[in-house]
Amino acid sequence: MITVKNERYRQKYHIMPPQGWMNDPNGLCFFKGYYHVFFQYHPDSAEWGPMHWGHARSLDLVHWENCPIALTPGDSEDKDGCFSGSAVVKDDKLYLIYTGHNYLAGTKKQEVWENQNIAISEDGLHFQKYEKNPVITSPPSDNSTDFRDPKVWFEDGLWYMVLGSQSKKREGRALLYCSKDLLDWNYLKVLAKADLTANEGYMWECPDYFELNGKKILLLSPQGIAEEKGIFKNLHQTGYFILSDDGNQVIKSDFYELDSGHDFYATQTCLTEDGRRILFAWMDMWKADMQEQADGWAGTLTVPRELRMQGNRLCTYPVAELKALRSELLFTQDKFIKKTSFSSSSHALEINAVLDWGKADTSIYFELNDEEHSQIFIVEFCPTTRKAVLKRKGVDGKRQASFSLKQQLELKIYIDSSSAEIFINGGESSFSERFYAAGKLNLEFSSENLIKQKLDVYCLDS
Ligand code: FRU
Repeated sequence: MITVKNERYRQKYHIMPPQGWMNDPNGLCFFKGYYHVFFQYHPDSAEWGPMHWGHARSLDLVHWENCPIALTPGDSEDKDGCFSGSAVVKDDKLYLIYTGHNYLAGTKKQEVWENQNIAISEDGLHFQKYEKNPVITSPPSDNSTDFRDPKVWFEDGLWYMVLGSQSKKREGRALLYCSKDLLDWNYLKVLAKADLTANEGYMWECPDYFELNGKKILLLSPQGIAEEKGIFKNLHQTGYFILSDDGNQVIKSDFYELDSGHDFYATQTCLTEDGRRILFAWMDMWKADMQEQADGWAGTLTVPRELRMQGNRLCTYPVAELKALRSELLFTQDKFIKKTSFSSSSHALEINAVLDWGKADTSIYFELNDEEHSQIFIVEFCPTTRKAVLKRKGVDGKRQASFSLKQQLELKIYIDSSSAEIFINGGESSFSERFYAAGKLNLEFSSENLIKQKLDVYCLDS
């Protein structure tokens, strides 16, 4: 078993693996008083490998407790991995629905067999794989063998499952299945697929499907979307289509990126006890430079975020529960000023900024530096283009998001030891970023104009 050799980049309040590698959040649910978050996990190494399901649970969405590994690969249907999936509660039991991943021996290219499986728990801690796994053995005949990441929900007396996949024509697509009992599944149809003439991806991973404010949202992580006018710059994207129905067929909106940062992928949502739809993402990207790997671990999730629709825009914003993390008010001000700088030895911070645009003719900047004053990133908010441009140290450092111009620019920023999440105007845009800094952090808000800057900065508990 690998161990964590150095704590320097360990997160204080985000979910991360106890040691070893983590990727996608899986099986988000509320069961018997606890929120459960499972995740793609390789406990033996800081590199991706045979996927287990790691597990954490929380009473309040804020303080998390590590739980024993929930799923271990190695059975005949999941020989090489228990891949991503979801969780539902039925008859007072917790059901995990996940993909079994197998490399086929003796094939030239490493060909795979992917299938869908169930594991059941009475207490939410110990899981028994269903003896008749897999419950879905193979994809429809016009599909490639990429067929994974089941998301299941209950609607009008039936269970539905949406699966990520790729057709034989290399179209990313979401497949819809249906079941009366969660065990026997029937293939219904292609819920939606990439248009080959549009830039919509050859493989769709981690689909999720839900209704929010009367809009039908298909949230997913497509592979193969090319950069377009400064967006879609990550290796793979996460975003959404709004689906509608004209009676004959499903119509998709354009594909919208959900977060504009470098490190955001493989989202999943669930409902809270009081009916809010919340989301977690893996706050990393495939092939990124994860410097914590040298320390024996890799990967972290975002903070839990509540989803809201603003017109046709899906917004994400940290859940209100996170206020419970505040330990002391580090810094507060409310005055006309051009530049505010402050430093913090704590790397666990919540920053709330309300910045009045004044004449609104010059940009506002937010800059994060480490002790040596070497810039981690700078974000420029430009009132004329209504674009926020984040420049991070290193190659391929630039990302951009749009925002609407109101009298004030509102920012909420969560910083942890090796991550920053920036929410603009109540979550209409966001940037999720990993960073690796040493010593104190220096933070700065500035503008060429004298503007009213109202800031409240809290140190956060572990
Ligand atoms: C997304 C993904 C999923 C798969 C899992 C494997 O990041 O590629 O499609 O189930 O990771 O770890």
